[in-house]
Amino acid sequence: MAVNTRTPLIAGNWKMNLDHMQAVAFVQKLYWTLKEAGHDPQTVETAIFPPFTDLRTVQTLIDADKIPFALGAQDLSEHDSGAYTGEISGQFLAKLACGYVIIGHSERRQYHNETDEIVAGKVQAALRHGLSPVICVGETSEDLERFGASAVPVGQLEVALENVAADADIVVAYEPVWAIGSGQAATPDQAQEVCAKLREVVAAKLGEDAASRTRVLYGGSVKSSNIASFMREPDVDGALVGGASLLVDEFAAIIRYQKHVGV
Ligand code: 13P
Repeated sequence: MAVNTRTPLIAGNWKMNLDHMQAVAFVQKLYWTLKEAGHDPQTVETAIFPPFTDLRTVQTLIDADKIPFALGAQDLSEHDSGAYTGEISGQFLAKLACGYVIIGHSERRQYHNETDEIVAGKVQAALRHGLSPVICVGETSEDLERFGASAVPVGQLEVALENVAADADIVVAYEPVWAIGSGQAATPDQAQEVCAKLREVVAAKLGEDAASRTRVLYGGSVKSSNIASFMREPDVDGALVGGASLLVDEFAAIIRYQKHVGV
């Protein structure tokens, strides 16, 4: 496989936290914390995924203050427009300068019955509007016991990548459901093993070029104390962070993982 030229991506999924006023304070504080620490945004890309109602405000702030954070949404509709009450079109997200959109998060699969087919439809919708889908896959603890770590996430990704073009800009996030919000992260070895398998799926579906360019993230109880150990793994290109992305100092420390001792 080609030399790794992938820019690490640290993504903060705020889930249903922080209203648009709190978002402004948070983004400003995070920006200044990183700036004062001398963080070079070229070395690690930072992306934040606030609730829909925050996006316009955060986009305006990022634009006005030239804050080097990418913006993403936490979901989108499979459809582009029409009678879909409560849904948000990829068209609207693209207009708000969203670069990314999370698709198929386990909380959406679990609480909103999102099937692999719906996830695949949303991936197509994102790509139609020039958004990079952050495709989330992962096994529950029951899946882990029954099928091992990689079978379920590999199967989920295979369906999500149906009919995706070889040159599509996608991100894959491996989030074992048992590690999300539990404080019990996967080990770096476990994360590496599954992330490598997911990269093989990208290679099989989209080709070797896509596989060497696509970033595969790990998510699930990522903290400043464990991020560096994940980032040492060759197939882990970043992290999708939940709880710790809501704490300015903690999230800034995760973004600055390259400065941690021993890295
Ligand atoms: P935690 O970091 O809170 O475990 O959440 C992970 C997650 O679900 C990110 O999408």
